[in-house]
Amino acid sequence: MASQSGVPNTAIVGLQWGDEGKGKFVDVLAAEHDVVVRFNGGANAGHTIVVEGEKLALHLMPSAVLNPDCELVIANGTVIDPSILVKEIELVEARGLSLEGRFHVSSRAHVVLPWHSLLDGAAEARLSNRGEAIGTTKRGIGPAYADKIGRSMAVRIGDLLDEPYLKAHLGKMAPLRLEELKVAGNDSAIDIDTLLSDLLRLGERLRPYITDTTWLLHDRVNENRSLLFEGANACLLDVDHGTYPYVTSSNASALGISPGTGLPAKSLGRVVGVVKAYSTRVGGGPFPTELDDAIGNRIRDRGHEYGTTTGRPRRCGWIDLVALRYAAMVCGADSLAITLLDVLSGFDVIKLCTGYRTASGEVLDRFPPDARLLKECIPVYESHPGWAEEIDQCQSISDLPEACQSYLHSLESHLGVPIEFVSVGPDRRQTMRRTLQPNSGEDSCCHPGSLENA
Ligand code: GDP
Ligand code: IMO
Ligand code: MG
Repeated sequence: MASQSGVPNTAIVGLQWGDEGKGKFVDVLAAEHDVVVRFNGGANAGHTIVVEGEKLALHLMPSAVLNPDCELVIANGTVIDPSILVKEIELVEARGLSLEGRFHVSSRAHVVLPWHSLLDGAAEARLSNRGEAIGTTKRGIGPAYADKIGRSMAVRIGDLLDEPYLKAHLGKMAPLRLEELKVAGNDSAIDIDTLLSDLLRLGERLRPYITDTTWLLHDRVNENRSLLFEGANACLLDVDHGTYPYVTSSNASALGISPGTGLPAKSLGRVVGVVKAYSTRVGGGPFPTELDDAIGNRIRDRGHEYGTTTGRPRRCGWIDLVALRYAAMVCGADSLAITLLDVLSGFDVIKLCTGYRTASGEVLDRFPPDARLLKECIPVYESHPGWAEEIDQCQSISDLPEACQSYLHSLESHLGVPIEFVSVGPDRRQTMRRTLQPNSGEDSCCHPGSLENA
């Protein structure tokens, strides 16, 4: 599918464990799309945009908010804490940006209720006692999706506009929930009348934006508008295809787009996989290339690797090509955006994980489906010479040190997916773009002059 301007409907998805710089690329690519759509997750996401030194961190609102001509959609596959969304609307409006007529929230999206975050915290405390914590963001994401699938205890965004229904529904389910919380060791007093009036007030605030986004998105497709899908979380955190159970509770790979929007799979034109030039992970779970040493600390310091949502230090390590090959395959990545490349300046040697050695000595080149097996895997590395120069002011690939260009070339040839973008700093303008030729192969990658500024 392509719009009148010839721009195909595009997905921006993370191919690692999150925080790859998706927000930056949504902001960059929004300029050439008409509608930007969040299709999964909730306020567990933290997407950062930097324009001319000014920073904006968003959790629910699509990251195209600074593009005034873009329509913004939060579609049905998301879980929304309405108080966080209203705060974000106010933050955006305080910057003088209008949302009127261009922001839409699905009436089918699910509501994150106060007990979801409490249940999330209680489950984590229980797991933590056994040394098995997922390390969730405690934003109630898992319990909210569990209620969606369970059906009887869920509230959808559209329900916030139906007072009699909401009152009756909360009246039936709240006592069960408070009992459940008590059993979980949490006797937080949630007053149901106060909760009802809070939800109705938030619903009124959101009323101008609430709509059936499934019809709206189909209308936009029929009008030949170009759509940009903004993935939250990332492929290796996908509940079906990630490092289960150390994942989030939604389809955070590109596979989540269809169920999360109501658009058929054929609506998707191309997928841009966003990849950090190294690896990070927040929270628990296997991470074969993790560096719990001075190199890992150096990456964390240079990359300011602290969570956008929780402020937690991110675990850091070398790039993992076994995991990336799998994620690019699952997401159907047509091209890559390599981010935070500037962080790798000043390392004598940069390592790339090309295989996993298992306890039995076998070397795997296929990402295993079992987190317990992954935990036992020892990375097999290829070493690559580093570069000393800072690169954050480089304007094109040909400006990059030779060793840096060669590192990009190695990534591309190992992954078999062309690099379309290279990011050397958080700002919009610190972005290089290569015009990809149809069927372009690895040979054409990163040749000086083959990339240009976005
Ligand atoms: P997201 O969740 O994928 O949108 O990523 P986050 O916003 O959580 O984390 C990425 C962080 O890296 C943010 O602070 C960005 O501003 C920053 N960032 C993005 N691209 C680059 C880059 O190329 N270089 C540097 N140094 N920072 C970047
Ligand atoms: P963005 O969109 C990094 C991780 C959490 C935890 C696991 C489950 O900013 O890339 P959850 O609260 O979803 O139940 O937590 O998933 N996680 C993320 N890590 N970036 C994210 O989003 C994440 N969203 C969830 O740290 O390990
Ligand atoms: Mg993030």
